[in-house]
Amino acid sequence: MKLLFLIVLMYMFDQHKGNRLSNNPRPFEDIKREISDYSEVAKKIINLAVYGKAQNRSYERLALFVDTIGPRLSGSKSLELAIQYMYKALKNDGLENVHLEQVKIPHWERGEESAVMVEPRNHSLAILGLGGSVATPPEGITAEVLVVTSFDELHQRAQEAQGKIVVYNQRYVNYGETVLYRGRGALEAAKVGAKAALIKSITPFSINSPHTGIQSYAVGVPKIPAACISLEDAELIARMSSWGSKVVVTLKMGAKTYPDADSFNTVAEIVGSKYPEQVVLVSGHLDSWDVGQGAMDDGGGAFISWEALSLIKDLGLRPKRTLRLVLWTGEEQGGIGAEQYYKLHKMNISNFDVVMESDEGTFMPSGLAFTGSDEARGIMKEIMKLLKPINITQLFGNGEGTDISYWMKAGVPGASLNDDITKYFWFHHSQGDTMTVQNPMEMNLCAAVWTVVSYVVADMEEKLPV
Ligand SMILES: *[C@@H]1O[C@H](CO)[C@@H](O)[C@H](O)[C@H]1NC(C)=O
Ligand SMILES: *[C@@H]1O[C@H](CO)[C@@H](O)[C@H](O)[C@H]1NC(C)=O
Ligand SMILES: *[C@@H]1O[C@H](CO)[C@@H](O)[C@H](O)[C@H]1NC(C)=O
Ligand SMILES: *[C@@H]1O[C@H](CO)[C@@H](O)[C@H](O)[C@H]1NC(C)=O
Ligand SMILES: [Zn+2]
Repeated sequence: MKLLFLIVLMYMFDQHKGNRLSNNPRPFEDIKREISDYSEVAKKIINLAVYGKAQNRSYERLALFVDTIGPRLSGSKSLELAIQYMYKALKNDGLENVHLEQVKIPHWERGEESAVMVEPRNHSLAILGLGGSVATPPEGITAEVLVVTSFDELHQRAQEAQGKIVVYNQRYVNYGETVLYRGRGALEAAKVGAKAALIKSITPFSINSPHTGIQSYAVGVPKIPAACISLEDAELIARMSSWGSKVVVTLKMGAKTYPDADSFNTVAEIVGSKYPEQVVLVSGHLDSWDVGQGAMDDGGGAFISWEALSLIKDLGLRPKRTLRLVLWTGEEQGGIGAEQYYKLHKMNISNFDVVMESDEGTFMPSGLAFTGSDEARGIMKEIMKLLKPINITQLFGNGEGTDISYWMKAGVPGASLNDDITKYFWFHHSQGDTMTVQNPMEMNLCAAVWTVVSYVVADMEEKLPV
């Protein structure tokens, strides 16, 4: 029995050449040589993307797209148009298996909204309601504010919160930490009896610009309206309040939540020549918030991912594995399209080689962020050396992306772009996220990194070891 089992097993290994099941690991020197043999191909990709005919192409394509369509909120007509636009564009580009995969996504609209300080003096506040927020009554909510700098302070002053509008004037530490105030601000304020929450925007820099984003309620806690205000207004209200002034605000929000809408993840491929069932996935999300143009978040990531397939096609290359572009829908509402994609396709998880997502800007790149085994990391380090001609060779830890996180949690290696995010959160989810913050030369470099990495991983003899 045992012997038979072994023979069957060996037979299976034999059937899985090019798979990560390989029972006879190759010496690393061998793998290194295999990778360095790609240096000519890498140079061709770099030349085409950065200096050649494709120079500025991802930027030009993105400008045409966002200037035509505008912002693309989950559930909106413009997101639907964006998906149709991309479907046609990918087909016209001559990519393979261009198709849409249907998913259900949230449909929330902000409606009319305003906030005015009416005491101690009249002053109009710049606000952006938060995704999923309930409306105020039509006449608005007029209440005194309670300013806090943290959830701890809110809990200590819980007695004072009853019937008030809580204003969070938290310090910006970093996005990951500070965004909790946006995500849970209304929920925590409602627990202590507040009528609404106004949250200082999650950004280190502002020209009176409010920033929106998703927030959540919890079962059993009253749903109260929530909006972000600018840094300037949060600090103004905090100063007035610290002098002992009574600050009163009238908040009006006409937000509405509709039944979930039909939408699609948009997919295109270059089918693999030898292991077509195996997949290297490159991605960005097509949806955005309803302000600005969603050029940076995540137009840039989506369009350098498309560019990767275009460059490979233009060079007449066809990797051994399938290179699959996925343009996610409903990311901003919490990776909704990606979650449904994962559920549908996870049966094929052993065929996923690496999942890549660019969703933290396409500014000046410094390298690749990668999560995977030490062995896989060693291989990725070698691949990054191929980018020496543009000196973007660093491999960082913590590859990430909301949309690829489902696969990564299940053990698939994941990669994201490491770029200069110094100004990313200045524009994030605000009216400032437009083409004006994008730079064509930086996008060229991002596309070159993205393409060399995805192509070489897709074309190597073996999948990345897990
Ligand atoms: C690409 O953009 C850069 C920077 O704006 C510009 O200098 C260059 O001429 C552009 N190249 C092409 C081919 O349009
Ligand atoms: C503030 O605005 C209210 C409503 O528009 C108005 O009635 C009031 O006179 C204003 N107060 C001052 C001091 O301008
Ligand atoms: C799983 O992979 C096989 C082989 O490539 C393919 O035919 C099938 O459509 C895939 N199923 C899903 C749900 O992705
Ligand atoms: C290459 O990049 C590294 C790391 O970003 C930097 O320290 C170095 O100065 C760069 N070298 C050149 C020649 O630009
Ligand atoms: Zn994003």
